[in-house]
Amino acid sequence: MSEQPVPEADSDTTTITSGEDEAREVGVGPWPGPWPDGDHYDPELLAHGDRRNVVDHYRYWRREAIVADLDMVRHDFHVAVENWSHDFNIGSVVRTANAFGCAAVHIVGKRRWNRRGAMVTDRYQHVHHHPDTASLVAWAGEHDLTLIGVDNLPGAVPLETHPLPRNAVLVFGQEGPGLSEEVRQVCAAVLSIAQFGSTRSINAGAAAAIAMHAWVRAHVFAQPVPDTATTPTP
Ligand SMILES: C[S@@+](CC[C@H](N)C(=O)[O-])C[C@H]1O[C@@H](n2cnc3c(N)ncnc32)[C@H](O)[C@@H]1O
Repeated sequence: MSEQPVPEADSDTTTITSGEDEAREVGVGPWPGPWPDGDHYDPELLAHGDRRNVVDHYRYWRREAIVADLDMVRHDFHVAVENWSHDFNIGSVVRTANAFGCAAVHIVGKRRWNRRGAMVTDRYQHVHHHPDTASLVAWAGEHDLTLIGVDNLPGAVPLETHPLPRNAVLVFGQEGPGLSEEVRQVCAAVLSIAQFGSTRSINAGAAAAIAMHAWVRAHVFAQPVPDTATTPTP
């Protein structure tokens, strides 16, 4: 397992394009007035403005300071994606993982992945690479994490009603083949997302977003059910 190196050439600047109109930069300009104190501030950004795709709380912060701050609040779940044929959904999975405070993204298979959909969020998200399923399984075992497959395969149980373990790695397959047989064999459960239309499946990036949000609902927002709600009235 290794941490994915971050290419410095990637632009971290957000640009909004509306139709055929000119592109418009977003963000904030140079810091007005006397500069604030704090090592987390980046003098370059204070001087020239911050056009990155970051929430306002992190405006003008150094990248390393943002990562360190996120590290204090990341949740316990991880996600893994199989990447045997350069699946184009991985960027979107990384972006959603960043948004939902996922501990780390694990890419199993090929090292190269299409970063476009990540919108540079991979700079703030831990992304690990595993050459094969055995490496992911070993890593998960060392960290006491349960592998949970997400796919609508025969025998899968509904995500909507199955409890999601807190210390979980949610594992997603690729467009086309879905979860490999090898990964299915090592998952404690395979969960399906309910569908009601004619299509066989939804996009893997969309499935990952639904499953991550299900974990967040279960472990960040779930309220204990008060006794009165379960005690039958005489
Ligand atoms: C496009 S699907 C591929 C395969 C799918 N098993 C099929 O029968 O066509 C790619 C990945 O998206 C995720 N996925 C798509 N639809 C899903 C669903 N309804 N429930 C759970 N996962 C789903 C899974 O991780 C799956 O491996």
